[in-house]
Amino acid sequence: MTGLADIRSTFLNYFNKQGHEIVPSSPLVPRNDPTLMFANSGMVQFKNLFTGVETRDYKRATTAQKCVRAGGKHNDLDNVGYTARHHTFFEMLGNFSFGDYFKSDAIPFAWELVTKELDIPKDKLLVTVYHTDDEAADIWKKVAGLSDDRIIRIPTSDNFWQMGPTGPCGPCTEIFFDHGDKFWGGPPGSPDEDGDRFIEIWNLVFMQNEQFEDGTRRELDAQSIDTGMGIERVAALLQGTNDNYATDLMRALIEASAHATSTDPDGSGKTHHRVIADHLRSTSFLIADGVMPSNDGRGYVLRRIMRRAMRHAHLAGAKDPLMHRLVPELVRQMGEAYPELRQAQALIEETLKLEETRFLQTLDRGLKLLDEELSGLPEDAALPGEAAFKLYDTFGFPLDLTQDALREKGRTVDTDGFDSAMAEQKAKARAAWSGSGEAADATVWFDLADQHGATDFLGYDTEQAEGQILAIVKDGVQVPALEAGETGWIVTNQTPFYGESGGQVGDTGYLRRLENEDDMARVTDTQKMGGGKVFAHQVTIEAGRFAAPDAVALEVDHGRRSTIRANHSATHLLHEALREALGDHVAQRGSLNAPDRLRFDFSHSAALSADELARVERDVNAFIRQNTPVETRIMTPDDARALGAQALFGEKYGDEVRVVSMGRKSTGKGQDGQTYSIELCGGTHVMRTGDIGAFALTSETASSSGVRRIEALTGDAAMQELRGRDMRLSEIEGLLKVSGDEVVGRVKAVLDERRALQNEVAQLRRDLAMSGGAGQGGGVEAKEIGGIKFLAQALTGVSGKDLPSLIDQYKDQLGSGAVLLIADTGGKAAVAAGVTADLTDKVSAVDLVRAAVPELGGKGGGGRPDMAQGGGADASGAEAAIKAAEAVLGG
Ligand code: ALA
Repeated sequence: MTGLADIRSTFLNYFNKQGHEIVPSSPLVPRNDPTLMFANSGMVQFKNLFTGVETRDYKRATTAQKCVRAGGKHNDLDNVGYTARHHTFFEMLGNFSFGDYFKSDAIPFAWELVTKELDIPKDKLLVTVYHTDDEAADIWKKVAGLSDDRIIRIPTSDNFWQMGPTGPCGPCTEIFFDHGDKFWGGPPGSPDEDGDRFIEIWNLVFMQNEQFEDGTRRELDAQSIDTGMGIERVAALLQGTNDNYATDLMRALIEASAHATSTDPDGSGKTHHRVIADHLRSTSFLIADGVMPSNDGRGYVLRRIMRRAMRHAHLAGAKDPLMHRLVPELVRQMGEAYPELRQAQALIEETLKLEETRFLQTLDRGLKLLDEELSGLPEDAALPGEAAFKLYDTFGFPLDLTQDALREKGRTVDTDGFDSAMAEQKAKARAAWSGSGEAADATVWFDLADQHGATDFLGYDTEQAEGQILAIVKDGVQVPALEAGETGWIVTNQTPFYGESGGQVGDTGYLRRLENEDDMARVTDTQKMGGGKVFAHQVTIEAGRFAAPDAVALEVDHGRRSTIRANHSATHLLHEALREALGDHVAQRGSLNAPDRLRFDFSHSAALSADELARVERDVNAFIRQNTPVETRIMTPDDARALGAQALFGEKYGDEVRVVSMGRKSTGKGQDGQTYSIELCGGTHVMRTGDIGAFALTSETASSSGVRRIEALTGDAAMQELRGRDMRLSEIEGLLKVSGDEVVGRVKAVLDERRALQNEVAQLRRDLAMSGGAGQGGGVEAKEIGGIKFLAQALTGVSGKDLPSLIDQYKDQLGSGAVLLIADTGGKAAVAAGVTADLTDKVSAVDLVRAAVPELGGKGGGGRPDMAQGGGADASGAEAAIKAAEAVLGG
């Protein structure tokens, strides 16, 4: 029982038997701490349980927690590889009591586990207590039977543990193991305590206070326990060594590194292999937890660790990228305890390979430049900051990499000079933006980007996180605070809120001040500012006052984000379905992924046929039902294109792109085929295509010349749309008294019947008018005026459309003459005149109409000499209109 995996399970099982819930490690990127860069001890995920802000349904917990100490306050990076116990990544085993048991149980638990379960000889153990903690000393005496000289009282902060400048804290007791006099070193508290002989293996913190920013402390309402045991150290002592790198797990990684470089693990490259083994763990776990290499924040820490490892791989003799080849061994060693490692294996390998490929391209040139610079300097002189900055700026060499390279030569860097070169460059960049014609208020965002770097976006993995307010902007200028009722923009150091980009709308939700959760800001939009680096939350303060550097809980509107996600993933499937149905010329021309709908514009010249639309809708739904995982990877734009990824034409992409893939084409042989949709995309997506739920097209229209626009719905909205259509159909079926398939035939029949009836009615009206039937004023006789037979009549019940055919019939009856008909169409009048062909050179129908129209309250009128028409607003002038026409004939 000395392997690392056994120690982990022994620990967890022991505390589980003592009524502790085994809680999985929290991710390395803390969700519940506004400022902490990485989880650096087991208690981080339980912070709010100690202060009583949060309760859970267990009061005892035990964990194996992933920890990274490589940025911010606890930065062990520089020492890793050169010492026996420094790591950037390590595992902390812990047991926790949240207001349940306290010292008198925590100490016996620890003693039993160490001496019985792990079987560590008692005479090799000694402990420390805080100098005033008589209670703990008494318990140790009683429980462990330790003599006074092996219970060492420490008056310093070494035995008063604090999470940070604020938060839960308390005195602690630490268990030490004596590796024996073959190692140099003295017991804790002695001048030689830093030696390798006495090694701390377990820290038990008695959480009983909370520390505030002003330096005061309060007694916590409940006394709690937080412990941390470094698994690597315990494994070392159980395996008879005091070197963590000689333990089974680290040794396996070191041997994998040595094997891959065909070198001796313990030869001249020993340090390199140790660095590689350690950094392989931290980089892989960070990538698995969603951190990606970048030039800011967490991503930059990751990049620095990666590059440090890669330089050591290079020094160890690796000519080609090495790190990614070691990932399978890491997964073998740790994948069972941390399944996320296995899940992310492909992503980790690709990310490492990409970074190392690029790094190797610049490393040779960078190192050459470094040598040149050094050769011109006096022996032992520090490298000028300017030169270090040039390496950083031109060759992507982080400062600590340069320092690391120089350390072997016993030299240093002028870091002040480096800082001022960096400041100078930023000043130049700022001068460049102010002249760039950006909107006046854009400067404030570029200033913020410059001052604080890029906002850390956590929203691919979580919708809730804590953050710290860095700045507040109102009407284009920075302001100290926003009060209740005010609106403005809040910038935090990290956020789960997606900033509008790539067609996906910005997230909405809430910010709450951690100090008083009643203080709330409603987030109405999120935008990326300052060249896309700064995420700005547009807020309305509902209650309280928000100011920097308040810590806030950020919570994305989950329901809204879920539908946005579904719409965005459906857009990718739609894009591919259109390409399959219409051809490769289909390219995205624009898109909108909103919570309530999606819109996709694409190049295609003709309207889609009903069959094409049906096929597209069917295909998208088929891939939704396939329910395959949506995969995200990071690669160079060239690799992405080689993979066949769809990119936006004309869009500028950075060095690295996010590639989102989903769906498997069927091979027809029961095997998985090629990936269906591959797109460059920075948006947020569903976990599996099945999460989209359903897809319904709602419209297909022209957007602009050669560009079609499709609108569609997903999930519940799609179902409601289909349900609505179904209900309307049912109503139609009810009205027509037919069902399903017969509806269309029946509607056609009804329309035909209607047309036939309309014709029949029109004919009947004409017949009625001709026969002088009811309402038509009786059989009108033609008068003779100026030698022309003239027949004039005012009609009701006929429409203007009927007049020409009636005129023709009257003309036939007269043989030779003129006709004027006025139809009263509900108070308005339509008028038509006709003149038989033999008379058109004497009188024009147009003149007759034009004479009649003014009397009917109208204007104009026109047609041909034999047939003309007009109208007016007032049918009561019919009599006068007839008179006016008669006057034309008479004249
Ligand atoms: N939180 C304590 C530590 O990190 C146990 O040492």
